[in-house]
Amino acid sequence: MQTDLRNRDLITTQEWTRDEIDTLLDVAWDLKRKRALGEPHAYLRDKVLAMLFFFSSTRTRVSFEAGMAQLGGHAQFIDSESTQISHGDTAKEIGEIIGRYCDGIAIRQCDWKFGNQYIRDVAAASRVPVLNMQDDIYHPFQILADLMTIQERFGRDLRGRTINVSYAYASSYQKPLSVPQDLILMMTRYGMNVRLTHPPEFALMPDIVEQARENSKRGGGSFEIGDDFDAGFQDADIVYPKSWGCWMTTEDKDESKQIGGKYTDWITDSRRMAMAKQDAIYMHCLPADRNIEVTDEVIEGHQSVVYDEAENRLHVQKAAMALTMRS
Ligand code: CP
Repeated sequence: MQTDLRNRDLITTQEWTRDEIDTLLDVAWDLKRKRALGEPHAYLRDKVLAMLFFFSSTRTRVSFEAGMAQLGGHAQFIDSESTQISHGDTAKEIGEIIGRYCDGIAIRQCDWKFGNQYIRDVAAASRVPVLNMQDDIYHPFQILADLMTIQERFGRDLRGRTINVSYAYASSYQKPLSVPQDLILMMTRYGMNVRLTHPPEFALMPDIVEQARENSKRGGGSFEIGDDFDAGFQDADIVYPKSWGCWMTTEDKDESKQIGGKYTDWITDSRRMAMAKQDAIYMHCLPADRNIEVTDEVIEGHQSVVYDEAENRLHVQKAAMALTMRS
């Protein structure tokens, strides 16, 4: 157990050891239990978290804000459009200045080839921990909540379990690569058999895929990439089919829409769920394009754990804040 995580940034879990991640999860379970019992846990009294959003959010915003209140502190919502950030405040200024007002800075900046670097530039100038609420490469708190949810279902030893991280079609917008990328990075570290399934145009960043391969070698599981949607479901314990953009192929919105249009049949339905193991779980970070990406029957069905995943965002984020922002 790692007991000194004070002042640590959490930009990618790749920069946290397994031991540190396990510590965070231990604390998350303790906080979940405390909340269920109504036990006070005001570990961050008088502390303030600045939450800086460059992109819309439901779960992330509400869970960070609720989490800070439950820890006895306060969270400030800062929208890039309605502040002077839109008129030129630099990343360095944000890190320096907000770091002097607040005790932690959480940022969502998903712009392709920009978001992660922006968060790192803020962190370099900040005297307080910086937490990544999603960027163009990573979504660490989503994946920590996913890991917590999987461990609740299958136990903490996940070796030998098979997870299918798959592309699914959605019509709404060209979504970031951050969720599938962070999933393949994290689940390979836990010795799982990780299947990445996507059409050829929807590849992930090569550097991330390489890191997942390395994690898999060290973790003792397996890592394979396929392009057959149905085959991805076969005998899986966990299926996580979600949409992402074809960023490695094109940044052009119209072209990406046209490419996506070739895969409208990549929808998760009960026929496909039946190909997975009988006790398999269906996961999705949400929001989902209902009846386009996944049928209502599946997402609201008995195998779906999407509401537990969403709840666990609260507990892992509270754990991270309590560990990194404490006095
Ligand atoms: N899963 C997730 O990050 O949800 P929001 O975009 O609503 O925050």
